[in-house]
Amino acid sequence: MTTHQPAGFKLSGVGSSLPDKVLTNVDLEGYMDTTDEWIYERTGIRQRHIGSSTTELATIACQEAMDAAGVGPEDIDLLLLATTSPEHICPGTAPGVANELGLDCGALDIQAACSGWVYGLPIANGFLMQGMNRILLVGAEALDKITDYHDRGTGILFGNGGGAAVIERDPSGVGELLGWDLGADGKFVHILYAEHGDVLKMDGKEVFRQAVTAIQRTVQNTLDMSGTTVDEIALFVPHQANIRIVESAWKKLGIPMEKTAMVLENTGNTSGATIPLALHEALREDRVQNGDLVMFIGFGAGMTWASALVRWNGS
Ligand code: COA
Repeated sequence: MTTHQPAGFKLSGVGSSLPDKVLTNVDLEGYMDTTDEWIYERTGIRQRHIGSSTTELATIACQEAMDAAGVGPEDIDLLLLATTSPEHICPGTAPGVANELGLDCGALDIQAACSGWVYGLPIANGFLMQGMNRILLVGAEALDKITDYHDRGTGILFGNGGGAAVIERDPSGVGELLGWDLGADGKFVHILYAEHGDVLKMDGKEVFRQAVTAIQRTVQNTLDMSGTTVDEIALFVPHQANIRIVESAWKKLGIPMEKTAMVLENTGNTSGATIPLALHEALREDRVQNGDLVMFIGFGAGMTWASALVRWNGS
């Protein structure tokens, strides 16, 4: 390993996973006083996936990302797992996932709620600059374990899923992490939280308000750090919480929806998994070319927020 070298930054393989079982808005009409139309109109969500486990969803997404990158367990130097729905209070979920994958390296959880996967991008970059060659960054959630599907506020939003990327050094000079921003404001812990052994509780209106503010702030900070403008960016991959949140923030920032990767309609909010899930879908649709600028934007409980701008040289 060499240390402290400019490393380059490349997402060389991306994978994702969703449980087979689907819970539609129409199904929810049987659980609570709501309608498919109301949910879709207010959130942009039609269905979410439930079942499986955080470990299983993380393992499948990671394996798919490793296969796409053409690497094996011996090539991975670190596993970072962003999750809001860990298997246990202790230990972290990452060591179990590493075991399933046959990895022989460090493994740790990132607990930054829905911002976790984006927090992982500059963390991974730091380790590449310290001399690591390849890092697996996965977001995975079994949110059905902490969601009350009879609650009209939270039950309409959350679902399960996983998304992962192999991140590696890129000596070509194309792939690079051009800018990033991390933030947290613990004044807002009480607007979205789950106590030990309990389900998620949320002040939806306040979360909506704070999310729109956080997105604007973090996108601007990353644009400033990288000396980039909105117009230069080919694709925005925001956290998929509620399409109305994204639309409100985009309107203020002047970002067109056509440049946005969205999977929310079919997945609901899968917290730490939404961004790699949406990225994977955009790659399948061939929406990203090498050399393109791609921005990732996370926000969520804490409040936490994060954004990162990558010059793409990917899978
Ligand atoms: N189905 C049908 N009607 C509902 C409903 C539901 N699931 N939930 C609330 N309502 C009704 C209320 O009874 C109220 O009716 P009234 O005007 O007759 O009194 C009306 O809709 C508005 O209720 P309110 O609780 O103010 O809803 P809202 O407009 O704030 O929408 C959310 C609720 C959850 C969709 C919205 O607050 C939201 O998405 N917030 C952000 C949450 C989020 O993204 N969290 C994750 C962040 S990472």
